[in-house]
Amino acid sequence: MSKFYKIAQLPGDGTGPEVLREGVKVVEAAAKKNNFKIEWTPYDLGGERYIKTGEILPDSVVEEFKKLDAMFLGAIGHPDVKPGILEKGILLRLRFELDQYINLRPVKLYPNVETPLKDKAPADIDMIIVRENTEGLYVGAGGFLRKDTPQEVAVQESINTRFGVERCVRYAFELTKKRNKNNKLTLCGKTNVLTYASDLWQRTFNAVGKDYPQVKGDYVNVDAACMWLVKNPEWFDIIVTDNLFGDIITDLAAMIQGGMGVAAGGNINPEGVSMFEPMGGSAPKYTGKNIINPIAAINAGAMMLETLGETKAAKDIDNAVVKALESGKIKSMSAGKMGLSTTETGDLIASLI
Ligand code: IPM
Ligand code: MN
Repeated sequence: MSKFYKIAQLPGDGTGPEVLREGVKVVEAAAKKNNFKIEWTPYDLGGERYIKTGEILPDSVVEEFKKLDAMFLGAIGHPDVKPGILEKGILLRLRFELDQYINLRPVKLYPNVETPLKDKAPADIDMIIVRENTEGLYVGAGGFLRKDTPQEVAVQESINTRFGVERCVRYAFELTKKRNKNNKLTLCGKTNVLTYASDLWQRTFNAVGKDYPQVKGDYVNVDAACMWLVKNPEWFDIIVTDNLFGDIITDLAAMIQGGMGVAAGGNINPEGVSMFEPMGGSAPKYTGKNIINPIAAINAGAMMLETLGETKAAKDIDNAVVKALESGKIKSMSAGKMGLSTTETGDLIASLI
């Protein structure tokens, strides 16, 4: 009997549904070719539902997600909803409640994709960033004192546990070993100032590294990482870092790989249910025009299959994306300038599987 996966579709807001549709199309093509089946369940979480019903994310839905194999997300964010409500109420809540403790961000420059970095080619930009996804400044620890007075105090604490750091660092070492590219893992922190939090990371990194003699450990301060990612991206193989530093450097990294049209991410619980998404937001101004780039969603679909253990199918998608780009038919990664519509881009990639 062929394998069978249960996956949630969360199209979300803005252009989310348009890009997710193409992601699903290409994943389906890869499933067919590799003899496995997917049962998709749609969920209408997002701004529209919130505006209509006041519901953000019912507890019962979270329980349903826990029984699935994976989740495939389009975009969350609505122009008529105050920033933070949907992001915290849906995206961050799911990361925490499903314990998706890894945010995985491959950074790869595909052929014929323009990078703002002068003289850099696909061989120079090919790394993976492993961001801790359930701790640090994202836990919401802190509060106000004397709010709205001239004496107001706002405290926001970064929580770093040995347990949380260790499982993230270990995941990164395992990935570096498995990838077997340069066998180099760079810890990104701020040891010269954050002498508690970054110190815990550094000690944990050194301790876990003893189990991986084949991996060369390296260290970079986060500010310097922003310089080197622009100047010498070829130095990096895998980077591991905390939640906020990871949030910041992955946006920088998305730009050097050609922007939000190609950048994909996975919120991964290696022992549980993971969620995959294109990095670009809901892009309200392009909504409904069939001009948004679906490649990031398609890449997220490939990551999802890889995480499910369908390595061959994931590779088929990656190869199809490369072929589509090599064909020269896709003129740009930017919405409206691609030379193909959203659906045509998805069709092209699906046809190359
Ligand atoms: C990301 C996003 C989220 C984050 C936002 C939308 C809460 O920027 O996935 O990187 O900060 O983690
Ligand atoms: Mn971000």
